[in-house]
Amino acid sequence: MIRVVILASGGGSNAAALMEHFKNHPQIRIVGLWTDKMHCGARSLAQQKGVEDRFLESGFWSDETRMKALIQEQSVDFFLLAGFLKLVPEYLVKQFPNRILNIHPALLPDFGGKGMFGMHIHRAVIAAGKTQSGLTIHLVNERFDEGKILFQKTVEFDSGTTPETLQQIILKEEHRWYPVIAEQYILSF
Ligand code: GRF
Repeated sequence: MIRVVILASGGGSNAAALMEHFKNHPQIRIVGLWTDKMHCGARSLAQQKGVEDRFLESGFWSDETRMKALIQEQSVDFFLLAGFLKLVPEYLVKQFPNRILNIHPALLPDFGGKGMFGMHIHRAVIAAGKTQSGLTIHLVNERFDEGKILFQKTVEFDSGTTPETLQQIILKEEHRWYPVIAEQYILSF
């Protein structure tokens, strides 16, 4: 079994899509959902779906020794970020080269980087007068949203679309694509 941990900080709809997709998968198992937020939707969803959830406080993420011990104990092979707001620590990127994936709700390299998360992204896209946006699935490196792009899907929308509606349109596509692209990537690794 290939052992995958989801990292999440928010509502957890992508985490839920991943947990659902990999439930009963013959080769890939979601062995945990780790979060930096004591209370978040992602954590509750993991509990509902019987995936082991762990809240790791801020000092834990920066403590390489403790984190590496947990990773070893859980035999983690890949990390999938799903609405994880923290910058992944450099030691983790080094320990997992090309084995940490993220999804971003815009067409990178546009509308990415520090501060570009959640509704900020969709507001910025609309403020820029765009009628196209989309999603990007990419590898994680030491900088926000700059790792190698694995997959992009464009969506078109009418001018006059609100940021909230755009978020919903893109989230639906995220749930559709993230599990299958992550699966393909992991299996071909
Ligand atoms: C998604 O739009 C994802 O692309 C981004 O953060 C959002 C998380 O939403 N990285 P959810 O918590 O999965 O509902």
